[in-house]
Amino acid sequence: MSPPGTPQPAPSRQDETRLVAAAREARARAYAPYSRFAVGAAVLAEGRIYAGCNVENASYGLTICAERAAVFAAVAAGARRIDAIAIVTDTPEPTPPCGACRQVLREFGPQLSVFSATVEGVVVTHTLSTLLPDAFGPEQLPGRIE
Ligand code: THU
Repeated sequence: MSPPGTPQPAPSRQDETRLVAAAREARARAYAPYSRFAVGAAVLAEGRIYAGCNVENASYGLTICAERAAVFAAVAAGARRIDAIAIVTDTPEPTPPCGACRQVLREFGPQLSVFSATVEGVVVTHTLSTLLPDAFGPEQLPGRIE
């Protein structure tokens, strides 16, 4: 929700480490009794870290992903700029964010860094623009209110 064109600071290695640790911790709180696929996420927003986990529901379609839970926690706490997200899963390879979460993250800029990590510490880094090229975003709605 930063104005389009606002430069997005690249997160440091220390930010990455802190984010992955926070996402790993949040994963332990996932509520995933149906899929048993626990996901933790943490966003770096204006220098602070906000975490989220997936929360499933007996009405399956109402499940919320960890990434969106983390983004919404940051915004609800007053943040408006998000620079990076870490996602942690217990999988052999890191898990990239789903399409819906990519679109939600795109709201905060194409240069947002995405660290997908395993609980064992394998990390793959992307920028959002590579995960969601040619995206619809806030730039398409010039009349919006900040
Ligand atoms: N899930 C996430 O939390 N993030 C993703 O990017 C992909 C999927 C969750 C949703 C559901 O609770 C479980 O993983 C299986 O799809």
